[in-house]
Amino acid sequence: MIARRTRELGVYCEIVPYDTPWRVLAGRAPAAFILSGGPESTLVEDAPAIDPAIVHSGVPIFGICYGMQLLARDLGAELVKLEHAEYGPATLRIVNRDVPLFAGLPDEMRVWMSHGDSVVRLPNGFATLAATARCNVAAMGDPQRKIYAVQFHPEVVHTEHGRIVLRNFLHGVAGLRDEWRMSSFVDAAIEAIRSQVGGRRVICALSGGVDSAVAATLVARAVGGQLTCIFVDHGLLRKHEADEVVAAFRHVLQLSVIRVDARERFLRALDGVEDPERKRVVIGHEFIRVFEEEAAKLPGVEFLVQGTLYPDVIESKTPESKAGHKIKSHHNVGGLPERMNFALVEPLRALFKDEVRELGRVLGLPEPIVRRQPFPGPGLAVRIIGAVTPARLAIVREADAIVREEIDAAPLDPHPWQYFAVLTPVQSVGVMGDGRTYANLVAVRAIVSEDGMTADWARLPHSLLERISTRIVNEVRGVNRVAYDITSKPPATVEWE
Ligand code: XMP
Repeated sequence: MIARRTRELGVYCEIVPYDTPWRVLAGRAPAAFILSGGPESTLVEDAPAIDPAIVHSGVPIFGICYGMQLLARDLGAELVKLEHAEYGPATLRIVNRDVPLFAGLPDEMRVWMSHGDSVVRLPNGFATLAATARCNVAAMGDPQRKIYAVQFHPEVVHTEHGRIVLRNFLHGVAGLRDEWRMSSFVDAAIEAIRSQVGGRRVICALSGGVDSAVAATLVARAVGGQLTCIFVDHGLLRKHEADEVVAAFRHVLQLSVIRVDARERFLRALDGVEDPERKRVVIGHEFIRVFEEEAAKLPGVEFLVQGTLYPDVIESKTPESKAGHKIKSHHNVGGLPERMNFALVEPLRALFKDEVRELGRVLGLPEPIVRRQPFPGPGLAVRIIGAVTPARLAIVREADAIVREEIDAAPLDPHPWQYFAVLTPVQSVGVMGDGRTYANLVAVRAIVSEDGMTADWARLPHSLLERISTRIVNEVRGVNRVAYDITSKPPATVEWE
């Protein structure tokens, strides 16, 4: 979140593991450091620590929450464990206004606190800059050394003016300019791809998703005709989607696309498979097999484009992997590079998802592709609870098309982040015309979210839900009942499988 906010302020930044030594960092000539928060306490043994040379490097530093306590400890301050942790909103009183960190801020503001320890004696050279009712040192700074720290979280939306605090550090304290832009990224990225690939051939697996679309377009800009895209139609995409994707890439973007009709193959491979994780594995393996066969028909390919994003890079670099438990395996084209001896071209490695969308726009990708809602790699297979059959695929595909059509046409604020239909294994009794029916239950899911990591169910207007329900029951054969999913994530996940 801190990194995203920083980039939104036009300053390029990267996240590195806390234990990266100064000698490694120094080689990259950092202009400033931000030390993030974290759930640990500096008062326990083996608390995560940074190389002390960073603190004494002369580079401006901004410590946030745990980052503040770490700075305080390393600079010789005194910390105590609070009897009652301070968690949630608090009123911050600024007590020292003569520092650039608080330029342009009111005397009081609401901030978000989340800490169990507190600084009680300042390090040498530091002054107290702000306090809350429960925390005497809610901000501290040493303007001479350009080291500042806050106990609250400027990066969260619950902190009023948090963005200004961050901007004041980046621009006011560290002297960084608001100059990180997608358009300048494009030139640098194209240059980097050209020097990596030279005159050799590249392939890319297009999924229809925004990441592979943007990655392929960027590579095409760099090395044009050396790029061939392969689109594997596994038959698990949404209504008309395969045609739309291929048409957009061929005709709008002028990319060379090989379309592989693998629908039968995937259905055969999925025959009788009911377990969600097993479905993912089967689809992943089948995808690799199809892709390998197609790639083998293209002589002399040495590179594979992958739409790896920055969050994947961060996760794989996190020390002692505290990244949390794996809830679902999200492998899409994962596994391809190891098997196929290709060098990887990953032009989006430094970007967040919203930056990828912005890049897509700069590159002139059609808006439906740029704005496409997230869609799981295993496609509709994980939206059919139980076995995947052509008949069940048809039901979920038609119902999904209705959900999307209706929600897309509704003026909703916020617009849901993701919305779709799920075909449940439940059959229920109904009455249609004069007859008794015993047919399928379709669930509708619509969520609001920023990143899919947490989500809330969308409060759709009843009239909209009514239209969706009526249309599904009337237009989709084999459905006589519609339910709306009103569970947030957590405890539920976005997808039902
Ligand atoms: P969950 O269901 O884990 O979903 O709350 C979070 C986000 O990830 C998407 N999702 C997947 N994406 N392969 C993907 O590429 C998958 O297997 C997969 N499963 C879930 C989901 O649509 C949501 O946006």
